[in-house]
Amino acid sequence: MHYPGKLEEQAKAKLTQNGWYYASSNAGQSHTHTTNRQAFYRHRIIPRMLVDTNERDTATTIFGHKVPAPIGFAPVGINKIYHPQGELPVATAAGSLGLPYCLSTAGSQSIEDVGAANDARAAKATDGGGGIGGSQAAQGVRFFQLYLPHDDELTRSLLQRAVDSGFTACILTLDTWQLGWRHDDVATSNYAFYHGIGADLGLSDPVFQARLKEKGIDPKTQPNEAGALWIDNVWHGRAHTWEKAAWAMELWKEVSGGKPFCLKGIQSVEDARRAVEMGCDGIVVSNHAGRQVDGAVASLDALERIVDAVGSKTYITYDSGVRSASDVVKALALGAKFVFVGRLWIWGLSIMGEAGVRHVITSLLADLDILMNVAGFKKIGDFTRECLESGPKNY
Ligand code: FNR
Repeated sequence: MHYPGKLEEQAKAKLTQNGWYYASSNAGQSHTHTTNRQAFYRHRIIPRMLVDTNERDTATTIFGHKVPAPIGFAPVGINKIYHPQGELPVATAAGSLGLPYCLSTAGSQSIEDVGAANDARAAKATDGGGGIGGSQAAQGVRFFQLYLPHDDELTRSLLQRAVDSGFTACILTLDTWQLGWRHDDVATSNYAFYHGIGADLGLSDPVFQARLKEKGIDPKTQPNEAGALWIDNVWHGRAHTWEKAAWAMELWKEVSGGKPFCLKGIQSVEDARRAVEMGCDGIVVSNHAGRQVDGAVASLDALERIVDAVGSKTYITYDSGVRSASDVVKALALGAKFVFVGRLWIWGLSIMGEAGVRHVITSLLADLDILMNVAGFKKIGDFTRECLESGPKNY
């Protein structure tokens, strides 16, 4: 069995059945998940020889931060499913590696605690305690992912807390007002959301606490009811519009003093153009790892078209299906400036907590460094479409 498959097996052995189904399930028949992977096979790297790759540099910048590699942690909710300390070991690992960490609105831990965990080890890494090259800043680089509630006061509170906790960009997820139809999950974990894991959700927001009080729900004695109310705020099933997204951007700009705002879940050229017109600072081309719309376009195929249309006008990042360095190289060669990974670090967290997260991410970084050496790339700017042979081929 190949490497990510082994990780999945080990994570499955560690997780509860509900936890495993929640993390691994995809929309419908998993066609989108499968097509995400197949899209990578349609591009093949053309290695170059006798290039002086003795000095290689994977550093890049994202939203004004210099980071050691074009790889970040995709937002993933409810991390207590995978580890008793939830998001903290992940934020700590990201901080120690100097790579951007993105906290989900649906986190198990408070925004404040995650911010502190992300900084703690980042500071240590500057003394050679970890990281890559020991050159990262003392503060972790972190972004806040927003699931936009219909409760505007709650949105303001979340964004203000994120700013106060050192989150330097907001990523608004557009593809998940409601969880997609995921067969395994519908049969198990989704049910558990409403009836069993209220205690795994972070419910500390003061505006949300006031809402609980108004409804007479005590989160200590009624965790499931409290969890259900929170879920009604983040995955409420009631669609938003471009006007509301623009409102969220303005609000973020106001509370953050103009920090970057990004839209995640863009899959069409039309929406990418609209995002540019809206004035947002970047987009994440993503189909949520194939968990929302079954039979949707592969994110990598969407990426190519979107880069052609608006690549010079906005900062384009990518996620969905990245499992190895060659996937990173292909996404960057097709025009993404940065990639995020999700399931890879979820498996690491499930298997071995912070050490597991560090293991999978440092393995990905080592893979990238070696690939650059053997394929003739000195820096990430060398990844261009000319490095790829593209076209259908089955294997
Ligand atoms: C996600 N993703 C996600 N996205 C988001 O914006 N907020 C969230 O809370 C979550 N939660 C979440 C949970 C789980 C279990 C998974 C697998 C994914 C989507 C995530 O940010 C990202 O888009 C994909 O995971 C990237 O694809 P890969 O790397 O997992 O293939």
